[in-house]
Amino acid sequence: MFQKNTSLRPYHTFGIEVQTKVFADFSSQKEFRTVFAQAPKPVFILGGGSNILFTKDFEGTVLKNNIRTKRIGHTDGDYTIVHIGGGVPWHQFVRWAIHKNLGGVENLSLIPGTVGAAPIQNIGAYGVELKDVFVQAKCIVMAPFKFKDKSYQPGQTLIITKSEANFGYRDSLFKKELKGKVAIVLVSMMLTHKNHRIRTSYGAIQEELALHQITQPTIKNISDAIIAIRERKLPNPKKIGNSGSFFKNPYISTKQYEKLKKQFPKMPAYPIDEDTVKIAAGWLIQEAGWKGYRTGDAGCYDKQALVLVNYGQAQGKEILELAQKIQKSVKKKFGIHIQPEVNIL
Ligand code: EPU
Repeated sequence: MFQKNTSLRPYHTFGIEVQTKVFADFSSQKEFRTVFAQAPKPVFILGGGSNILFTKDFEGTVLKNNIRTKRIGHTDGDYTIVHIGGGVPWHQFVRWAIHKNLGGVENLSLIPGTVGAAPIQNIGAYGVELKDVFVQAKCIVMAPFKFKDKSYQPGQTLIITKSEANFGYRDSLFKKELKGKVAIVLVSMMLTHKNHRIRTSYGAIQEELALHQITQPTIKNISDAIIAIRERKLPNPKKIGNSGSFFKNPYISTKQYEKLKKQFPKMPAYPIDEDTVKIAAGWLIQEAGWKGYRTGDAGCYDKQALVLVNYGQAQGKEILELAQKIQKSVKKKFGIHIQPEVNIL
């Protein structure tokens, strides 16, 4: 069941050569409990490994979630609930949903990673976030903690509902208070089986649909359009190691934005509320001169500056050093602190 001194290179999208002392996978909740009980600690649960940068060998057990169940639950009005195993690759789930005429996740097409990892950072793209379809996650406790005045012990089952999950922009309870404390084994989501809400507010989607003369898009049309857009902009991790956006788009005060706008009138910005503006980190990095930069095998992608890449043999530390240099130079030029979106281990 356990493999010793295993390379993690095949199990994460950055393609960094690091090892874990122990490795195992699990394909059911029951198997998780057995494997977890015997695994040398600490234990790290890996989904698709698409949001992680390993900077050193892991001195514990990496457990790969391989729970692949897909179940259609009850229907109510326009909605159908689905219960999906945490180990199902996210995009495979999206295409399955579209095939079953279930809508809600088509804008999240081609996002790497697994269903179980999706709630952790509340994955989002093209105007949709996981929280828009999330109902609840079934978790198994890995380390003791207190939640809502109740104590939880390893092995116990815990359901986290949408309101408890505290979703924010690339953020959730799973990324904060529950970090490393639970394994997400099943995610329940609410999709539409009729009257699909078609979301085309992003200009890039409209342009792509127009290109194919589609005026009444189906959920499949939206998915196909997003696949085409992502393939153009984002590096395919099978060819060039990467973790999608390396940094989050920063939120700054409207006051700071008004000042900056005078100096940088082209800076893309999106109002969040009266006092807050979201700034495109990709633009900041590009203007700071990093787009297309390469040092050894670590680089800043030439088509999307928010994405850091491993051209082959880069070490995690080299990617991290590059990230820190970028952070410093963006801070110096714009006075804005950009924070990593990926988990650094
Ligand atoms: N921009 C530049 N130069 C660049 C990159 C971007 O000027 O090198 C500008 C663009 O011109 C545009 C703006 O920045 O005006 C936004 O760019 P884009 O639409 O590419 O989106 P993003 O903000 O860079 C976010 C998500 C992506 C998601 C897209 C589409 C984050 C951290 N990233 O990127 O998510 O696919 O929007 O919704 O919020 C991911 O999280 O890994 C990810 C890929």
